[in-house]
Amino acid sequence: MTTLKAVRGTRDLLPPETALWNRIEATARAVFARYNFGEIRTPIFEDTGLFARSVGEETDIVSKEMYTWEDRARAQSEKPQSLTLRPENTAGVVRAYIEHKLGETGQLQKLYYIGPQFRRERPQKGRYRQFSQIGAEVIGPPSAGSESPLRDAEVLEMLATLLDELGITGWTLEINSVGSSADRARYNEVLRAALIPVAAQMCGDCQRRAVTNPLRVLDCKVAEDQAIIDALPKIADSLDGESKDHFAAVTAALDKAEVPYTRNYRLVRGLDYYTRTTFEFTHGGLGAQNALLGGGRYDGLSEAIGGPKAPGIGFAMGEDRLVLTLLAQESAVPQVLADAYIAPLCDEKKPDVLVLVSATALFLARELRRQGLRVELGDGSFRLKKSFEAGNRTARHIVILGEDELESGILTVKDFASGIQTKVPRAELAAFLSQPSGEPAGDSTS
Ligand code: HAM
Repeated sequence: MTTLKAVRGTRDLLPPETALWNRIEATARAVFARYNFGEIRTPIFEDTGLFARSVGEETDIVSKEMYTWEDRARAQSEKPQSLTLRPENTAGVVRAYIEHKLGETGQLQKLYYIGPQFRRERPQKGRYRQFSQIGAEVIGPPSAGSESPLRDAEVLEMLATLLDELGITGWTLEINSVGSSADRARYNEVLRAALIPVAAQMCGDCQRRAVTNPLRVLDCKVAEDQAIIDALPKIADSLDGESKDHFAAVTAALDKAEVPYTRNYRLVRGLDYYTRTTFEFTHGGLGAQNALLGGGRYDGLSEAIGGPKAPGIGFAMGEDRLVLTLLAQESAVPQVLADAYIAPLCDEKKPDVLVLVSATALFLARELRRQGLRVELGDGSFRLKKSFEAGNRTARHIVILGEDELESGILTVKDFASGIQTKVPRAELAAFLSQPSGEPAGDSTS
């Protein structure tokens, strides 16, 4: 029989690496709390139309990367609903904002999320078909200040703080402005005209985009096309006065807050909902998939999916890429050792005693765990040598529980780091095991 494996582009995450994932998520939650964000959890699948209308029909994500299927119709007369595993979370958050009438609070909504997203891309290092994003959105009615450039700068400053607190060094922030939707429409036409004489020399995707959605040409990664793309007109020259002023206010705030950035005129991002500020944080250590995170402003998104005017700005970090970067920096995730390995030991010719010793070991483990210690429970069938080997692999101390210890209530504890063996009364065991390794206390016997 063929063995079943995780589906291409999906992965199992195992300890000790999962400890790193948890640390990243805990740090993100702590930073988001300091900036007064609350958590939102939206469904993992949505109506397909949501992504077509927000991310955009012509984008790579919607046109070729979504996991879409037809649900069973509820009644024979009904058309089956088309459903899609979410390829990103901004559309779902804005749908929830509209559905729950969050705009009617008159407040700015500051929402963060952590969870899996799905895109049928070609898997490679840092690019998976199921990946996890840590993202946040700031959205609200214009009266709540949602259009203010200060919101953009605050989000970017928060990201710089978060990456620093995660211990990620050497990141680069690239920013751009794609202007209002009118600016973008104007630029699209300028690009369309500029592409006519050169498109034939470009890759197949670019030739198609030059006609359907010229802006997407700027996303092209094909090496031979780069010189042509660099010579195309820049979006900065198509921005109106308001968009230029908005962008100038964002960069002025970043300068004042000492957040370093570089301007990248080609950063238009692969999703259609962006307006004005767009940004990416990249990291040189990631290889081809070098974007740690991406985001931007989406002032027309709510209206595009049938909601009220609700400008917003947000980002999503690729959690898989944060992990890769930290692993490369730290080289290995240290294994977490238990505080104690409890070894029930007994002469195998005395099965009654073995049952009693094992049962007492479980009770002792229960007592210690209730006091907050990390405890590994051994097995009564193990001999002394096997217990020591298992203990040494998993814990800082081994606690021997044999017939003698059962009677006396005094346990033999060995600290693996120092090699010191100590007799410890049961009532003092938790306190003893809580001490850092290699610092013996009490009555050392060897
Ligand atoms: P995005 O640029 O498509 O934006 O994705 C954000 C980040 O998710 C990327 O920078 C990358 O780190 C990670 N990512 C994307 N695809 C994959 C993949 N296949 N495997 C691993 N990581 C991946 C968005 O998703 C927008 N919703 C961001 C946003 C929020 N804009 C405004 N608000």
